Amino acid sequence: MNDQALIDIARTLVGTGKGLLAIDESTMTCDKRFAKLGIPQTVAARRAYRELIISTAGLGEDISGVILYDETIHQDKEDGTSFLESLMDAGIVAGIKVDMGAKALAGHRGEKVTEGLDGLRDRLDNYFLMGARFAKWRAVIAIGNYRPSRGCIEANAHALARYAALCQEAGLVPVVEPEVLMDGDHTLERCSEVTGLSLQIVFEQLRSQGVLLEGMILKPNMVLPGLSCPHQESVDEVAAATMKCLLEVVPAAVPGIAFLSGGQSGELASARLNAMHVEAKTGTSPLPWALTFSFGRAIQQPALGIWGGEESHRGAAQEALRHRAHCNRAALRGEYTVEMERN
Ligand code: G3H
Repeated sequence: MNDQALIDIARTLVGTGKGLLAIDESTMTCDKRFAKLGIPQTVAARRAYRELIISTAGLGEDISGVILYDETIHQDKEDGTSFLESLMDAGIVAGIKVDMGAKALAGHRGEKVTEGLDGLRDRLDNYFLMGARFAKWRAVIAIGNYRPSRGCIEANAHALARYAALCQEAGLVPVVEPEVLMDGDHTLERCSEVTGLSLQIVFEQLRSQGVLLEGMILKPNMVLPGLSCPHQESVDEVAAATMKCLLEVVPAAVPGIAFLSGGQSGELASARLNAMHVEAKTGTSPLPWALTFSFGRAIQQPALGIWGGEESHRGAAQEALRHRAHCNRAALRGEYTVEMERN
């Protein structure tokens, strides 16, 4: 795969005023969410739910790419059409989560490093042959007493960079996701400091592994106060802090930044993304990269609750999914309003 092909895929994903939808929950995570709603934790139920999402009419108007999980990428719709074919028919690029999850980092109590590099080259070649054109790897950085350690940030950044280089070798655009978690009572300033340092080290490692920055996508957290921090900044303050942090550390060569939602409500995630675009419109110079979304829960959560495993709720669930996707696309133009939630 040549550089231009990677650049073209990255631009298709982030440069067309649309965003990404993550439906790449591992079986364990998906089952946990199903269990809370009394949905059976079976292959059949997971397949039915993912079919509901993928078959949502008009999804491709708001969504440029969908991130799948290994189980899902091999599945078909009831009518026998493969999920991959169905996405292609909708004009949506298929992506695949390729990390094997965050595991305890030796020598660093309470911290994690994401695993999955062993055998990755072959897995990537296989996903490319199947039709995937981008991939995702998520690292998790927790904030706490004396955390994160430099060792944890560096180990995760190194793994992200090696994954990204392997992806590009296989012709897949890497989505690089170093997620600073929202859990804790830390302040927004602390989140900004940790996010900034993590991104700085991630870009050092990406350069050192020879990753083509023009052919990747960054998937960061927004800069937020911890969930149990007594002071919660306004939507505009979060937007300003996030933009400041990203402008300081993300090279202009990167074509796009696509935020994870990380457990924010759908409405807040849309409002904060919208505020960033409103701020960008009033700024003196245009943003150096596209700024979009790659949400999982912030798009799916209401739909999953409405569906609840009931086939008869499928239509209403698809409407809810479409609504969230639509709100987020409006946010990319700075046109999202709370009134949209009342319609
Ligand atoms: O890795 C995380 C997902 O791709 C995004 O999920 O928006 O629910 O944080 P989230």
